[in-house]
Amino acid sequence: MINGKDSSIIIGGIGSYAPEKILSNHDLAKIVDTSDEWIRTRTGIKERRIAHNGEACSDMGARAAQAAMKHAGLEPEDIDLLIVATMTPDMPFPSTACIIQHKLGLRSIPCFDVGAACSGFLYTLEIGCQMLKSGTYRNVLIVGSEKLSSILDWQDRTTCVLFGDGAGAIILNTVDEPGIGILGTCLAANGAEGQILTMPGGGSNEPATTESVLMRRHYLKMMGKEVFKIAVKVMEQSALDLLASHNLKPHDVDCVIPHQANMRILELMSSRMGLPLDKFPINLDRFGNTSAASIPLALDEAYRDGKIKSGDYVLLIAFGAGLTWASSLIKWH
Ligand code: ACO
Repeated sequence: MINGKDSSIIIGGIGSYAPEKILSNHDLAKIVDTSDEWIRTRTGIKERRIAHNGEACSDMGARAAQAAMKHAGLEPEDIDLLIVATMTPDMPFPSTACIIQHKLGLRSIPCFDVGAACSGFLYTLEIGCQMLKSGTYRNVLIVGSEKLSSILDWQDRTTCVLFGDGAGAIILNTVDEPGIGILGTCLAANGAEGQILTMPGGGSNEPATTESVLMRRHYLKMMGKEVFKIAVKVMEQSALDLLASHNLKPHDVDCVIPHQANMRILELMSSRMGLPLDKFPINLDRFGNTSAASIPLALDEAYRDGKIKSGDYVLLIAFGAGLTWASSLIKWH
């Protein structure tokens, strides 16, 4: 039986991809009125990766997926379901998942996108787990991929310095061993606060017109201070609730992979939760905020650096537009 008393859902493979081009804070200071010092001290970010013009969200996602499949020892015909988390799809339709399916040569399996912004990876993780539990699927491919450079206003110094491009992917499958792997996920949203982080133009509410383009409506808009305050509060609460539901305390956690948005958010979470910062593998200094790709990119790096060992409790925590937030608890296999 799938995910019954005798089995568990694990991350059976993991991979990531980052574009080659590096855009440093010094490079950015040549584009907008900012400085390396301002960006580093307010965010912890030193540089970010930027996809080249012809490189789409699906290209990065496919590269990360191939790495995860290789790690899991799987071929394209082994994948039964593909879910992609992104807020920068190649186009409104077809879904980026269908485009990646074609690029990878997968069978006629179900493929769809999930739009939960920076929480998207944990939303897809939970959907993948629930669909695995149905018993219909064996190997679920989950991809978080973002080309945020395509929706940034490169004249707005308050947002363009914060984000970058990249992708991460995992394979979810089951093993005949109870009590390990994905122990639980907590998802939440509050649409009433959605206006603090939006891209207002380009959808059915505000279709593209010459005027909307001139008004720069097709770019990410963020009220940074408001986002900051809410992010710290809800991520902490989500993580504490999830741990409590498994009779665990923060000190039981061996590794925290947070959404990599801002170093000051992570420092505050670390002190408020009483979890030393050295349990938080950080890569935002090199990648900036990569939204739905942020957690799988950081998880892949932490795993490959030996920061996650068998038996470790690993806590994933996310926050994003919607507003959405989420946390997942894993006992690494
Ligand atoms: N370079 C130089 N100066 C800048 C820059 C910049 N890049 N950006 C803003 N400033 C200026 C402002 O204009 C302002 O100047 P003023 O005092 O003359 O008006 C001053 O710096 C302070 O601006 P604040 O907005 O108050 O700066 P703050 O300390 O709040 O930092 C920041 C801004 C970094 C955006 C912070 O609020 C933050 O990190 N918020 C959370 C953002 C976040 O995590 N978003 C992601 C979550 S969801 C998702 O990932 C999609």
